[in-house]
Amino acid sequence: MCGIVGYVGSNKTVDVLMGGLRRLEYRGYDSAGIAVIDSRGVLNTAKKAGKLSALVEELKARPINDGQTGIGHTRWATHGAPTNANSHPHLADNGRLALIHNGIIENFAPLKAELIAEGFSFESETDTEVAAVLLGREYQRVGDLAEAFRTIVARLDGAFTLLAVHQDQPGVVVGARRNSPLVIGLGEGENFLGSDVAAFVEYTRRAVAIGQDQIVTITADAVTVTDFDGHSVETEEFDIAWDASASEKGGWSSFMAKEVSEQPDAVANTLRGRITDGRVVVPELTEFGDDVLAGIRRIVIVACGTAAYAGQTAKYAIEKWAQVPVDVELSHEFRYRDPVLSADTLVISISQSGETMDTLMAVKYAMSLGAKAISICNTQGATIPRESDAVIYTHAGPEVAVASTKAFVAQITALYLFALHLARVRGSLPEAEQAAQVAELQAVPEKIATVLGVEDEVRQLARWMSDTRAVLFLGRHVGFPIALEGALKLKELAYIHAEGFAAGELKHGPIALIEPGQPVFVVVPSPRGSAHLHPKVVSNIQEIRARGARIIAIAEVGDAAVLPFADTVIHIPLAAPLFEPLLAVVPLQMFAMELARAKGLDVDQPRNLAKSVTVE
Ligand code: G6P
Repeated sequence: MCGIVGYVGSNKTVDVLMGGLRRLEYRGYDSAGIAVIDSRGVLNTAKKAGKLSALVEELKARPINDGQTGIGHTRWATHGAPTNANSHPHLADNGRLALIHNGIIENFAPLKAELIAEGFSFESETDTEVAAVLLGREYQRVGDLAEAFRTIVARLDGAFTLLAVHQDQPGVVVGARRNSPLVIGLGEGENFLGSDVAAFVEYTRRAVAIGQDQIVTITADAVTVTDFDGHSVETEEFDIAWDASASEKGGWSSFMAKEVSEQPDAVANTLRGRITDGRVVVPELTEFGDDVLAGIRRIVIVACGTAAYAGQTAKYAIEKWAQVPVDVELSHEFRYRDPVLSADTLVISISQSGETMDTLMAVKYAMSLGAKAISICNTQGATIPRESDAVIYTHAGPEVAVASTKAFVAQITALYLFALHLARVRGSLPEAEQAAQVAELQAVPEKIATVLGVEDEVRQLARWMSDTRAVLFLGRHVGFPIALEGALKLKELAYIHAEGFAAGELKHGPIALIEPGQPVFVVVPSPRGSAHLHPKVVSNIQEIRARGARIIAIAEVGDAAVLPFADTVIHIPLAAPLFEPLLAVVPLQMFAMELARAKGLDVDQPRNLAKSVTVE
């Protein structure tokens, strides 16, 4: 959601801002705009509903003067439709101040009424313009952006990152942050602000994360961070591990195609440095405290979307290996009931972006009740890991396509590492068993690489099925969350009604949906590893087949029992049962992507979706 970029320096500011916005496109947006203070000290803005290409055309038709100070924004509409007028930046102080915003200002209505009563007028329906006018009014009083910000933030409820420039203060961009993301990029004679490091990774690998309730001022040569009361705060610099090319499409048809293919590396890189002599030792967990881990009596996993399915998948392994009960909760459901937590509850959040607002709020809430919190995250310097007691980073590299793929397998990998580390410190899994699971884990990258070879088969299938209107997915045990993920991918990408079910539930309802020709994907457990479950799922296949379903089975190589009943079998390599999800999910991701392509849809930026949901 909303991407933010700020720049002060001697590069071409319009280009820096537009390049930053392009790199933030993946977050999801429906309009864009920039504001630049030109060399004569005049503020110029350009904004346009639609994709960045519309703004590029606008800038060609009506070029704006370049300068050395500017802000840029991609907007994902919340308050007011995606129109030119509602696009950011919003102006105030007689067009001398420009402001952009990510988040929601919940009390904008009474503030707007107050400002209208004072004679201010508004040009948009947004909550953001209220903050702009409020800031403009305060600027007129104090004559300094950072100081004006310090006053107005006290009046704003909700979550926000706000960035502003004022033409009377050229060479200065000021930002304020509460809960929504903002990071600083440190350059030589230039400095940057961005929603995430992607905004400026092309120019610098040095970054600084900004804490909650802080105000940052950048000039070309200096960066100042204070709290909302104006006290200076310590900041921590980090090196950006991603290089600019990692977030480029290269020769791929889409970011998603590239990211699906990067899954062997996503797993291998997440394992790196965390296995010693056949045992899992995650340094971040050792630092967190093996004694604390040994005392954990319950685990609650909080996440949204695909990340929640990674949690559901890992629940089986954590309970089996570490013998600690695990509940998996959608962050937004967890936060607004009265969950029972105690000091021996560990809350694990899973978030690719580390910025999902519901997950952040769930973590903060759990910590306020005394629980310990560990974050599984793919983005350095993001808010959720900063707010947590410890973080296990997944090393999937930047994930740009809105629909999550390589982050999902990396999340399961990180959770399996967690489970094996926990099992070791709790002594719940014999050494030989630990070593066997480690060997399975290490073999996953190569096995995923083998699964990637089914691409042509899956593409063909997707083409045949391009006018399908509904698809069902069945799975059992760890195959169940994979069925859910397969259905989610198809909904997100191909806009087809898709549902995942636990195969055991079939006769309790879903079987009523079966009619002749209904496609059903079935994630079949291994006949070797899950000898007790395999025949039950094969029976399910026969039951729906007898009613006319068209079966697409994802089954282990050599599984002869499914062959007579399946219309199509997609083979995955042999693996121990708990590792099958890391393989079985790949053809389902590919199927959703190929079906979307066959329908001529944008697989990287599906309609209405945002990569990073930074508002509740
Ligand atoms: C959005 C994305 C999904 C993602 C979910 C959670 O809905 O479209 O792909 O799984 O958010 O995101 P997170 O960054 O917290 O993993």
